[in-house]
Amino acid sequence: MTTLPWYDRIPRTRIYLQLPEIIAGLANLATAAENVEHQVDAFERAFADMMGVEQAVAEPYARMALYHLVMALRLPAGSEIVMTPVTIHDIVNVLLIAGLKPVFVDIDPLTYQMDPQRLEQAVTPYTRVVLVTHLFGLATDMDAIQRVCHRHSLVLLEDCSHAFNAAWDGKKLGTFGDAGFFSLSSLKTVSTGYGGMVIAKDSQLIAQVRQQARRLPQVNKRHLATILIRNLIVNLATHPLLFSWSTFPVIRWLGQRSPETIRKLQTDNPNVWRLQELPPQWLWRFTSLQAGLGLKCLSRIDDWDQRRRRNAQILLDHLGQVVPERLVKLLPGSYNVYWRFPFRAPEGAKFRRFMALRGVDLTTTLLPCCSTLPIFADIARPTPYAQQAVQEVHFLPVHPTIPPQRIEEMARIVLAFLQQGK
Ligand SMILES: Cc1ncc(COP(=O)(O)O)c(C=O)c1O
Repeated sequence: MTTLPWYDRIPRTRIYLQLPEIIAGLANLATAAENVEHQVDAFERAFADMMGVEQAVAEPYARMALYHLVMALRLPAGSEIVMTPVTIHDIVNVLLIAGLKPVFVDIDPLTYQMDPQRLEQAVTPYTRVVLVTHLFGLATDMDAIQRVCHRHSLVLLEDCSHAFNAAWDGKKLGTFGDAGFFSLSSLKTVSTGYGGMVIAKDSQLIAQVRQQARRLPQVNKRHLATILIRNLIVNLATHPLLFSWSTFPVIRWLGQRSPETIRKLQTDNPNVWRLQELPPQWLWRFTSLQAGLGLKCLSRIDDWDQRRRRNAQILLDHLGQVVPERLVKLLPGSYNVYWRFPFRAPEGAKFRRFMALRGVDLTTTLLPCCSTLPIFADIARPTPYAQQAVQEVHFLPVHPTIPPQRIEEMARIVLAFLQQGK
C-alpha cells in the first residue's frame, strides 16, 4: 500500500507568495515612505498586458471590484443579476448592497460551471446582468453564454478569481464579457496579500471604476502588517521543510477530533453575515507594497501555471481512465489552469481520514452554496447540483511546488481508497 514518506507529506494547498517576499514586505512596511503610486500603475500595466487588454484597475478585493463595476453600470434598482451560487457570500452581499437582485441558477452537474440553458430560462424582463464564475480555474462555455447575453442584450461580467490565465477557445477568460474581475487574495495564483483587479472593454466604464477605487482612503499600516503576518504563518506552516513534521501531525490529529476547527482556521471569515453596507475594512486603496508583490507573482506565473497543469495532467492520466465519473467533465475548447483539482468524494470524512493516514492533507471546497444560506433566505432558489457539489467536491492538491512523483503516489492512494470500497 502506497504511503507518502514521513518527510514529504502533501499539504491541502500552499500560498503563492514566497517567504523572502513576505519578509521583505514586512521590513518595507516598517521603514518605507508612503505609497508610491507609480508602482501600482506598473502592476496594473503588467496585468493588463498579460490579459491583452488596454487597462486594468487594482482594487482592495474582488468583491469591491464587482461592487464598483455594478455601481459604474448605473443599473435601475431591483435589476436582476443571474449567477451561479457557489461563491463567497460577500459577493452576494455587495450585489444586494448595490441594490440588485441576485437570481441563482444551478450549475451543470458535470462541469460545475454555469449551464447556458438554465441561464436562458432564468432571464426575465428585469434581468440586466449575467455574472459567470469560472469555478476552480476551469473554463465555462463562453460561446453559449455569450449567445444568451446577445439574445437578451445583457451585460456579461466574469468572475475570474480562480481562473487567471485560463482560456476558452484560445482567448483569455475575463476578456469575453463587458468586464472581468479577479481576486488577488493570499490563496490565489497572483497574490498581493489581499486585493482585486478589474478589466473592462469600455473605456468609460473602466474610468468610472478607477475613479471609485482611487477615491478610497490610504490603507492603515496595521491592516497591511496583519495580512502579511497571516501570509507568513501560512507560508511557514505549509513550507516543505516544516509541514511534514510539524503542521501535518497537528492537522491530522485535529481533523480526527475537531474538523470544524481547521475549517475555521482556513476561512477568512467563518462568520457569515448579511450586510447592509460595505464594512470599513474593505475600503482601502491598493498600495504600492501590494503592487510589488503582485509583480513578483506575475513574473513567474507562466512557469507555475505549467507546473500546476502538469500535476493536474498526472491526476487526469491516472484517474481519468479508471474513475472518470469522479472527475469534472472538461469542455473541448477550454484551457484550464486548475487553481484547484476537484474530485468527487461523497464519502467525505472517511475519504479525508484515509488520505491523511497515508500523508495527504485534503479539504472540501470551503465555498458555500449561497442560494441556500439562511442569510439569503429571501432570494433562495433550489440549486441541488450546487448543493451536492459543495458537499462532495474535495480538492486533490496540485500546487506547482509538489513534485510529480508525489502526485503519482497520491493518485495511487486515491485509487486504493476506491478499491477498498468495492
Ligand atoms: C469565486 C470567488 N469570487 C470572489 C472571491 C472574493 O475574493 P476577495 O476576497 O478578493 O473579495 C472569491 C474568494 O475566494 C472567490 O472564491
